[in-house]
Amino acid sequence: MDRKPFHRLSADAWDEVNNPRPETSDFDRVVEAALSRRGFLGGVLAFGSGAAAMGTGLLSGGSAMAQEASRFGFTPIAAQTDHTVHVPEGYDWDVLVAWGDPIHEGVAEFDPESGVTLENSDKVFGENTDGMELFSFDGHQILAVNQEYVNPEVNLPGAPEGVPQNEGHVTKLQNMQGVTVVELAEGDDGWHVVKDSRFNRRIHHRTPMKIAGPAAGSDLLKTEADPTGTESLGTFNNCGSGRTPWGTYLTCEENFNSYFGSTDKEMALPEGYDRYGIGLDGWGYEYHVHDPRFDVSKNPNEPHRAGYVVEIDPTDPGAVPVKRTALGRIKHENAEVALAPDGRVVVYMGDDERGEYMYRFVSDGTYTPGGSGAGLLDEGTLYAAKFNEDGTGEWLELSEEATGMARDEIHVFTRMAASAVGATTMDRPEWIAVNPLAVEAYCCLTNNKNRGVKPNAGGDETPVGGPNPREANHYGQIVRWRPEGDDHAADGFAWDLYVMAGNPTVHDDAYGGSENVNAGNLFNSPDGMQIDSAGIVWIQTDGEDSNEGDFAGMGNNQMLAGDPVTGEIVRFLTGPKGSEVTGLTWSADRRTMFVGIQHPDAPFPDGEGSLPRSAIVAVKRGDNAQIG
Ligand code: FEO
Ligand code: CA
Ligand code: CA
Ligand code: CA
Repeated sequence: MDRKPFHRLSADAWDEVNNPRPETSDFDRVVEAALSRRGFLGGVLAFGSGAAAMGTGLLSGGSAMAQEASRFGFTPIAAQTDHTVHVPEGYDWDVLVAWGDPIHEGVAEFDPESGVTLENSDKVFGENTDGMELFSFDGHQILAVNQEYVNPEVNLPGAPEGVPQNEGHVTKLQNMQGVTVVELAEGDDGWHVVKDSRFNRRIHHRTPMKIAGPAAGSDLLKTEADPTGTESLGTFNNCGSGRTPWGTYLTCEENFNSYFGSTDKEMALPEGYDRYGIGLDGWGYEYHVHDPRFDVSKNPNEPHRAGYVVEIDPTDPGAVPVKRTALGRIKHENAEVALAPDGRVVVYMGDDERGEYMYRFVSDGTYTPGGSGAGLLDEGTLYAAKFNEDGTGEWLELSEEATGMARDEIHVFTRMAASAVGATTMDRPEWIAVNPLAVEAYCCLTNNKNRGVKPNAGGDETPVGGPNPREANHYGQIVRWRPEGDDHAADGFAWDLYVMAGNPTVHDDAYGGSENVNAGNLFNSPDGMQIDSAGIVWIQTDGEDSNEGDFAGMGNNQMLAGDPVTGEIVRFLTGPKGSEVTGLTWSADRRTMFVGIQHPDAPFPDGEGSLPRSAIVAVKRGDNAQIG
């Protein structure tokens, strides 16, 4: 493959460069398939007692929306194409923290021209902010936030095209990623990081971790440095997040494959590498050249120690993060926790790659409110989702019997286990969110140019149908399901589509989107998602922001608010050009909403003369009322 240099590319942009979209598609067939699916969806809506209310706003929701007053207390904003953040009238935003800001006293401020020094690189807010959760503990507000990846070019201004030249360069990149934990406080001039807080810490690519659960101690996880297979270094490509009822943070390892490479270009790829996209070249971070741990010719099991959900106690800066292998090894987007009526812990998870799967973990033990979570994420059952055409679905257990795999293999090569049981290949499952006011969950299926075009990396077909109704889907959709018996631990569910993104100003077929998409709320590629305490679905996008052609009128990436009952969706916030809006959490009093802005193009937020910086912004109402 003709690989182009990494430069400043997001994972999606990198993939677009190196695996460009197919140019041909049979348009007539596309339209026919999607339209028939659309008719079918009309029939899906009649399930459960709440189905009528749930369904009216869906693909036929226009009339219901017109009749009911909007529940949103703001005037939706127009699409934007500029280099800053916009929020509705009556709201304000301010920068909380940006890449390179010190998180401890005595650390030098960010240099707008040269960025961060190697010495300070593990003492500042990392790069490319993503999933985050705010915890209240003992009168403190503690933010745990992911730093997904780095743009080597801006972090290594002395290295040609950002290609690391030495061990120090690699160490700096490793330090700038992972997770940041910081205490926050609100003063007269807004929110700030409490730099002398004992909770502040950086967790990065070299931080000691424990490995727990069914794969811990497996031969597949043993390395020369760790013959026990239970202790590793670093958490990688931390994308989405989650939180447990017992007050811990879940950080999710997504494109972990990007950091590994080989100095031996002739070596045969070990089993399982292909399916996870682990190759000999890496994605340009060049760790393997300067740090043998990432050289798969020397440490072929090291990649098996990444791709997990990692649990962190934000209240104990000395606590060792734990990789929970019971939750499977995939390119984890986020981890959304729900409780079953009997107290078992349910974790919903998406694997963000074209044609990969959605997963669910159900604990063996039960959680008692106020009690401990010890062991709950280590012992349980892992499932993959199967969606039927008739609007039903089921969770398929990834048992040894059903997969023909040993227990440790299931938790290291989880994708193959899901393939073995015939789960449904999905259009890139991103964030999953559970509605706190109804027993239902939503998953953003961001887009999939390969839908109906080619199989996934495991050779599983990706037919058009079910919750993935459009060939070469470049707009994305949100699938929603309600478990049988109002029990997230039940194996059966009913599903429908909450929204199909599209562009009705360009297309009059299924690519025009569902009826709750209109000229005033155009968007593509739903990705981040949270449902707030009032049941509003907050949708963040990570898509094409050219504002041209099929994407005309969509503007920059954005955050929208959706009503789960009527289906109404309105635009709340727009990000600077080039950025992705990702990560959302609230202050304890729900008067501030924290929103992540990742990889802006231009010098946001400091203006001309500064490097562009990923940042978290704090959004408030002018009257300081609650917003979530
Ligand atoms: Fe890091 Fe799938 O988003
Ligand atoms: Ca991203
Ligand atoms: Ca994402
Ligand atoms: Ca994305």
